[in-house]
Amino acid sequence: MKRQKVLCVIGTRPEAIKVAPVILELRKHPDDFDTRVLVTAQHRQMTDQMLAVFDLKPDIDLDIMKANQTLRDVTARVMQGMEDVLAVEKPDVVLAQGDTTTVMATAVACFYAHAAFGHIEAGLRTGNCWEPFPEEFNRRVAGLVARYHFAPTRGSAMNLHREGTAPRAIYVTGNTVIDALQLVISRTQAPARPVPDGAPYILMTCHRREIFGDGVREVFTTVRDFAKRHPDIYVWYPVHPNPNVQGPAQSILGGLPNVIMTGPLDYIAFLHAMRGAYLMLSDSGGVQEEAPALHKPVLVLRDVTERPEGVEQGTCLLVGPHRDRIEAALERLFTDRAAYDRMAQAPNPYGDGQSSERIAAILRNKGDEWRLVV
Ligand code: UD1
Ligand code: UDP
Repeated sequence: MKRQKVLCVIGTRPEAIKVAPVILELRKHPDDFDTRVLVTAQHRQMTDQMLAVFDLKPDIDLDIMKANQTLRDVTARVMQGMEDVLAVEKPDVVLAQGDTTTVMATAVACFYAHAAFGHIEAGLRTGNCWEPFPEEFNRRVAGLVARYHFAPTRGSAMNLHREGTAPRAIYVTGNTVIDALQLVISRTQAPARPVPDGAPYILMTCHRREIFGDGVREVFTTVRDFAKRHPDIYVWYPVHPNPNVQGPAQSILGGLPNVIMTGPLDYIAFLHAMRGAYLMLSDSGGVQEEAPALHKPVLVLRDVTERPEGVEQGTCLLVGPHRDRIEAALERLFTDRAAYDRMAQAPNPYGDGQSSERIAAILRNKGDEWRLVV
């Protein structure tokens, strides 16, 4: 097979984390791949923060982020930038991961340019285009365009099959987030924590568009009241820079002695913070995948998830942005050790850390064994 030019596209924090191990793997095979890294910088600071963890530098930087950007801003700026880049770079394959607007706009740009597109973390579905918004739409568009669908689980692969995608284009690779986690956690030390030594803490993240407004306020007031009732339990909240989250976080949670708000943590600090946490309170996709590998229960601040495996296995519990469900689950997990252990000890359904190797093998036509069999 001739040497392939592979353009790896990254827009946001989770894409940097999940594409980094693929880039590192492709670069182990310089005779097979000329691997180029493009950042759209839909997230400017958080993408840079993550690339530094993996010691990666972009070859191309579209630098599109604006404060409080709209979906239209991101879509238009990525499509324009990608069109120009594809015309010059002429990659053999473009790889992008997940369901952000960067991924959707990249997929469309590839479609217009007749460029082969490979979708990492393919096939996740809730079945409802409005939830999560706009991610379900974004990943469906990516799925329409992809030549290679790298599904993390058999369930996600079967979602694609049910939609009519040919099985020969679908591969079950595991999720590259487990590769990233394994790369980082075993080789790094926990940095100093802002929580007092020995104190139990909840690690919280909250940023999804569908709970902006009333949902975010209900989550934060519930956490505020829990923290006041339990002064010995800490809540550590690395706040996402989105202004829709920053404002309510400061006004509702600011000033409480046992609620510690920091800026976004780099991946090393965040994984060690997860490892030390009693449990996770989160609406993040990636956290739902990492938590089973780290044996941490997750109360998922969403009503539906495209990651049912963690819920089915028992690590993740959907509580939505609802006071009664969040309170009941928190009180139970801090008092009922058996319930806690059932969640914490559930198996990890998201792979073995070899997903990037599989993706590289598939691109070299040596990955038939990972093709979906129905
Ligand atoms: C985006 C993705 C979401 C993903 C999340 C991961 C879309 C539509 N949404 O949501 O699917 O779960 O990233 O975190 O693709 N900002 C900064 N610095 C940064 C990053 C963001 O200041 O490094 C601020 C900016 O004001 C920016 C705003 O956050 O305009 C929102 O960023 P955006 O990417 O549009 O949305 P997210 O909520 O981060
Ligand atoms: N993460 C991080 N620092 C933080 C918060 C999250 O490194 O302060 C990591 C986390 O481990 C996971 C990813 O970021 O791998 C999830 O990103 P995010 O929640 O922004 O996006 P989602 O996964 O919901 O798309």
